[in-house]
Amino acid sequence: MDADVIIIGAGAAGMMCGAAAGRRGKSVIILDHAERAGEKIRISGGGRCNFTNLHCGPDNFISENPHFAKSALKRYTQYDFLDLVEKYGIKWHEKTKGQLFCDGRSQEIIDMLLTECTKAGNELRLGTEVLGVEKLGDGFVVTTPTQTLATSAVVVACGGPSIPKMGATGFGYKLAEQFGLNLIKTEPALVPLTFTDQMKTPIAALSGVSVDTVITNERASFDEALLFTHRGLSGPAILQISSYWNAGEAITVNMAPGRDALAELRKAKAETPKLSPEKWLAQYLPARLASHLALTFNYARLADMPDRELMNLALQVSAWHIRPAGTEGYRKAEVTRGGVDTDELSSKTLEAWKVPGLYFIGEVVDVTGHLGGHNFQWAWASGVACGQAL
Ligand code: FDA
Repeated sequence: MDADVIIIGAGAAGMMCGAAAGRRGKSVIILDHAERAGEKIRISGGGRCNFTNLHCGPDNFISENPHFAKSALKRYTQYDFLDLVEKYGIKWHEKTKGQLFCDGRSQEIIDMLLTECTKAGNELRLGTEVLGVEKLGDGFVVTTPTQTLATSAVVVACGGPSIPKMGATGFGYKLAEQFGLNLIKTEPALVPLTFTDQMKTPIAALSGVSVDTVITNERASFDEALLFTHRGLSGPAILQISSYWNAGEAITVNMAPGRDALAELRKAKAETPKLSPEKWLAQYLPARLASHLALTFNYARLADMPDRELMNLALQVSAWHIRPAGTEGYRKAEVTRGGVDTDELSSKTLEAWKVPGLYFIGEVVDVTGHLGGHNFQWAWASGVACGQAL
């Protein structure tokens, strides 16, 4: 036996799992084809790693089984991870909505995890791609380009295919299928949405404009900023709704959150009839967006606008109905939604019911967090739940 446990993937979940298993006396080898561990941690949060969220709870996750994540999240909470961060003297701050970031660089989180793995006696082999896993008796054989390793347990922590240029692969899904586990359809998530060419041209002038919104579809609603881009829409509100969006569906954008745009327009028409629609819009919206929206309303003054047109303008601001053409795909997606069906796994240990000794943790599982540190919290929590069960 080369090791009690072989973990595929030295990312957030894999390192956390290795450290937990090693502390329990297990010999652990972590394999990763990347030359450096935790590459996604490094680029996360704009280089400052939004490592958890103070308000993290089961409602912040999308899964076919919304109860699945509860057990792991309860046993290793955001406060447990924060304790670890503080133990290492890593300075942090809360940005907004409970999102915790490093004051310094994400590398501090990677270094902390690497130290935890080293202290727990893990062996980390980078630049080592896993080509295959086969069952052999009670254990497994893991194949790399140069070696065949025997182990009692395999932990699949190889994430999803988002950002392939960073080494992300769908290898975990391939393994799941090979062992007869069901997969929930995967889609890019936390991803910018794109426009059709026809929509793109008039909106292109707004590229770079950001506005506070409430964005809604049939399944979810998010109260965050929207950003216009050359190709469509981005910003936190769009990334969030993208995880709930299916091709062909519409979304509704309210650029006057918490306000009654029609009532305000009627009041403005009565009190300041000479005000132009553009000037009225510019009181609440960025100037470029105000001019763009006013273009469709060919009136010099609010006084000239019939009530029907006031209603249309109010709707444009508070219920802009758009049907995006698509998403920017895995190339730009922060995560992948869907993955290994949670019905196939124990929520306590993350072990596959059908294949004793085979575990799936982190993003490869059909548990997808909202934007704001929730995906890492799932990686930490599922990693620890598995590591403690090995
Ligand atoms: P992760 O992807 O971290 O690790 C998988 C590892 O497996 C990789 O190191 C890969 O090289 C390796 N691997 C794959 N196939 C292999 C094979 N065949 N053999 C060997 N190794 C293999 N989340 C959050 O909570 N806060 C944030 O601020 C951000 N920010 C962010 C920014 C960007 C740009 C992205 C792309 C993503 C985020 N995320 C995030 C999401 C977060 O990065 C993600 O949810 C976790 O990294 C998932 O952790 P895992 O350990 O499951 O996979």
